[in-house]
Amino acid sequence: MRSPAIDIRDLHVRRGNNEVLHGINMQVQSGSVTGVLGPSGCGKTTLMRCVVGTQIVESGTVSVLGSPAGSVSLRRRIGYVTQSPSVYADLTVKKNVSYFAALYGQPSSAVTEAIDAVGLTRFAGQKAADLSGGQLGRVSLACALVARPEILVLDEPTVGLDPLLRVELWERFEDLAAGGTTLLVSSHVMDEAEHCTSLLLMRDGYLLAQVSPDELREQTGEASLEEAFLNLIRSSPIGSEN
Ligand SMILES: Nc1ncnc2c1ncn2[C@@H]1O[C@H](COP(=O)(O)OP(=O)(O)OP(=O)(O)O)[C@@H](O)[C@H]1O
Ligand SMILES: [Mg+2]
Repeated sequence: MRSPAIDIRDLHVRRGNNEVLHGINMQVQSGSVTGVLGPSGCGKTTLMRCVVGTQIVESGTVSVLGSPAGSVSLRRRIGYVTQSPSVYADLTVKKNVSYFAALYGQPSSAVTEAIDAVGLTRFAGQKAADLSGGQLGRVSLACALVARPEILVLDEPTVGLDPLLRVELWERFEDLAAGGTTLLVSSHVMDEAEHCTSLLLMRDGYLLAQVSPDELREQTGEASLEEAFLNLIRSSPIGSEN
C-alpha cells in the first residue's frame, strides 16, 4: 500500500492555557477527499494548521508527503485556504488569481479555469473590495486552486455559499481528487460528508472516528449522516463531560 499523504501520530496541541488536541492519530490517503467534521471549537482549524505547519505542536508527529509538516520543501506542494479570506482588496478577482499563478509558474489558462471553477467568471474584472463575503472566500479558493498543489487544505470553503454552488464545488473537489490531488476539507455541515472518501469525526479535541460515509451509516444503523454522527457522539465515552 502507498504511504499516506498525511500521517499524524499522537498529536497534542495547546492553545492559550488549554490542551485543544488530545492525542490525534490519523492518516490521509493521497487522491482522497477527507472531510474534517465536528462542532464549532472541536479543533478542526487547529488540526489543519498543524498539517500546513503554522501551529506550534506540543508533542507527536505530523508528516506530510514524507516530510515533517512546515518543511520548506513542502511550501509549493501544499495549498491552504484559511477560514477568513485573505485577498488583495484593491485588486480585481483576475489580478488576485493571476498573482498566485505567476508565483507558481502557471499559465493564464489556469487563471481562467480556477475563476470558472469557483463560479466567479462574471466577476473577474471586479475589485475584491466590492465582493460579498461568500464571493471573497471563493477568490481565496481560486488563488489556492490555480497553484495546482498536491495537497489542498481547505478550512470551511463552502460557508456562505448557496446550495447549488456548494454542490458544484464539492464535485470540483472530487474531480481534483480523481486527478491525484489530496484534499483535506473541513465543514460543520454533515450533508457535505457524502462527498468525502473518508471522514474525520471530531469532538472536543478528540478524533471520535475515521470512517467512510457508508461505514458510518453501517456502524450506527442510521441512514442520515447527520443522525449517524449524533449517534456516534452520544455513544462515545470521550469528550462527553460537557
Ligand atoms: N488563538 C487561540 N488562543 C487560545 N485558544 C484558542 C485559540 N484559537 C482557538 N482556540 C481554542 O482551541 C479550540 C479549537 O479551536 P479551533 O479554531 O481549532 O476549532 P474549530 O473546530 O475550527 O471551530 P470552528 O468550527 O468554530 O471554526 C477551541 O476551544 C478554541 O477556543
Ligand atoms: Mg475553524
